[in-house]
Amino acid sequence: MSEVAVRTVALHKRFGALVAVEGLDLEIKRGEVFGLLGPNGSGKTTTIRMLCGLMVPTSGTGTVAGFDIVRESESVRGAIGYMSQRFGLYDDLTVAENLRFYSTVYGLHGRERDARLAEHSAALGLTERLGQLAGTLSGGWKQRLALACATAHRPQMLFLDEPTAGVDPAARRAFWQSIYVLASEGTTILVTTHYMDEAERCQRLAFLSRGHLIGVGTPKEITTQFNQPSIEEVFIALQAKDEGAAA
Ligand SMILES: Nc1ncnc2c1ncn2[C@@H]1O[C@H](COP(=O)(O)OP(=O)(O)OP(=O)(O)O)[C@@H](O)[C@H]1O
Ligand SMILES: [Mg+2]
Repeated sequence: MSEVAVRTVALHKRFGALVAVEGLDLEIKRGEVFGLLGPNGSGKTTTIRMLCGLMVPTSGTGTVAGFDIVRESESVRGAIGYMSQRFGLYDDLTVAENLRFYSTVYGLHGRERDARLAEHSAALGLTERLGQLAGTLSGGWKQRLALACATAHRPQMLFLDEPTAGVDPAARRAFWQSIYVLASEGTTILVTTHYMDEAERCQRLAFLSRGHLIGVGTPKEITTQFNQPSIEEVFIALQAKDEGAAA
């Protein structure tokens, strides 16, 4: 199996006159915890949607888990898990029904699915809540359920779009522990976040600004490249420059 989990070449996405992603060249190694950072509207979610095979690029190419994101988007979807921004849970379905729905979409069926879901819910501490409507869960439990929905089929690659937005510090910490466990089992993880302490936890980072990739590297390499004391300062300096350019 290839050591490269994600590769894009000159990936573009336009919405009418708006260029959301422009000329993105990205490479993510297998087993990496890779952070995608950038201000609101910089193209993170659009990039993830293209990589998940959910949105067709305007131009450029990409592979995920060895599959072409346009021609083999169905195979891409079988190899990945996607936790969307705001989690994408069905509030009027129970925890068990959400799990069953997502695992079916990801290709698990019948007894294999039910056995896997029982094991998976127990491992994530969801067993007690299987009958509860997802809409009545607290933010932290919603997050845990969304992660469970994205991982029950044991994907090789996981896309997490702001998975910790709106959850408390204890839930954030627990979530990152789960991410490291998944990574130690060989799962490649692409995560977006606006929390800079989380950015520092990634092995490598990519910075997007108005759809452009403006820096890639380890947190240390990025702070050195931009000559700033921390990732937070890099982010703020880039954003100030961005706003200056927009003015
Ligand atoms: N379906 C769409 N139609 C038109 N414009 C879109 C669409 N999806 C995204 N955009 C625009 O593309 C740009 C990039 O949006 P995107 O959601 O990828 O940013 P983001 O980095 O994920 O932002 P955030 O941090 O707020 O989640 C924005 O200007 C957004 O308004
Ligand atoms: Mg987004």
